[in-house]
Amino acid sequence: MDSMSAPAPTEGPLTPAEGTGSGSILVVDDDQRNVRLMESILRGSGYRVAKAYDGEEALRLVEKGPPDLLLLDVMMPKMSGFELCQRLKGRYETRLLPIILVTALNALEDKVQALEYGADDFLSKPINKVELLAKVRSVLRVKGLQDQLELKRVEIEAANQELIRMQGFKESMMQMVVHDLKNPLASIMGNVQLIQMQSLEMMTPTRLKELLQRTQESARQLMRMILNILQIGKLEERKMTLKLEPVVVHGMVQENVDEMMGLSARDNIRLENRVPPDLPSPRADRELLGRVIANLLNNAFKHTAGGGRVTVDGQQEGDAVTITVSDTGEGIPEDLQPHIFEKFVAGESDTSKRMLYDSGLGLTFCRLAVECHGGKIWLKSRSGEGTTVFISLPLSGPAEGQAGAAPAGASAA
Ligand SMILES: Nc1ncnc2c1ncn2[C@@H]1O[C@H](COP(=O)(O)OP(=O)(O)OP(=O)(O)O)[C@@H](O)[C@H]1O
Ligand SMILES: [Mg+2]
Repeated sequence: MDSMSAPAPTEGPLTPAEGTGSGSILVVDDDQRNVRLMESILRGSGYRVAKAYDGEEALRLVEKGPPDLLLLDVMMPKMSGFELCQRLKGRYETRLLPIILVTALNALEDKVQALEYGADDFLSKPINKVELLAKVRSVLRVKGLQDQLELKRVEIEAANQELIRMQGFKESMMQMVVHDLKNPLASIMGNVQLIQMQSLEMMTPTRLKELLQRTQESARQLMRMILNILQIGKLEERKMTLKLEPVVVHGMVQENVDEMMGLSARDNIRLENRVPPDLPSPRADRELLGRVIANLLNNAFKHTAGGGRVTVDGQQEGDAVTITVSDTGEGIPEDLQPHIFEKFVAGESDTSKRMLYDSGLGLTFCRLAVECHGGKIWLKSRSGEGTTVFISLPLSGPAEGQAGAAPAGASAA
């Protein structure tokens, strides 16, 4: 950098581009006249100016609220400009604070030394107005770019932290899912062991039937959960091929209702298929739709106490059919509802129920399966009063090229 000759302060007119500035500048000089001079030039050009008359006062002001730029006299009592510059550049919080050292020293070594102390630029005394404003503008421009970079760095750092958090979340969730699958399997093995241990002549037919029914129920749960996991992956990646056909909703629901009848009798929950047999048939994948109903019935049974009611209904609405699964159970807490269709979201289970298989994937599967049909799913629920899940399906099936699930979630109403 070449040294600049600086005669008396120049008060010449500035071009319009030079005439305006923004930003806050802290002027530090023990010579009040110098401070006043720089203040008037900078204020005249639109900068906000704060003043300090020694290094310690400057440090206090910087700690209170850092300016955009420091104009720092080198020769000051107590603490020299070099020392203050070195201190500020050495601290993490103030390392990026731009500093222009203002020096009466004119030797090349002094200017080199200023840069070595970390200064961003230097100015020679006496102050030249045009040079002062040009350097201030240039250093502030670099500071602006540096601020943007710093902002990006902070954003990237935050995104990185989020990725690390998500990775940990995924791993712990995988462990949870595997753990959840263990429960029905343990129940199946326990029941089989019980049957094996007792001689068949000693076991009453009622007891045997009960054990077999429990085993079958656990096996059904296990299959439901495994299929949910497998199909959620396929649906999310849009790799599921739908076998579209007109689906008689009443019949498809009845198959699921029949499967639940044993449980319905055992738990004293009334289960009704009220879907009109002549409801128009939507073009859909029968197996996938059946599994949606199975998941919704499973939830309804899990959260409804004995003496309650679970009902499946259906009606035509324009060129769509709406299927509802309602229960008179415990309802879904309000704070859980906005997230209920997201993966792994499961509420606290009513511990008096016996099928505590809560992997929080059932409704996610339902949402993805309904959305890949071009349909919508939502629910209404009140704590203590019950839950109704609504599924709306276009009668004509998914639009051309739509047979894939949208990543965005449906919401609770
Ligand atoms: N009918 C309902 N009544 C009350 N709470 C419900 C009902 N349906 C769902 N929930 C709540 O929503 C949560 C998420 O349900 P979802 O079916 O996605 O997962 P899950 O039933 O916990 O586990 P699974 O993956 O085995 O289905 C449940 O844990 C429960 O808290
Ligand atoms: Mg469920």
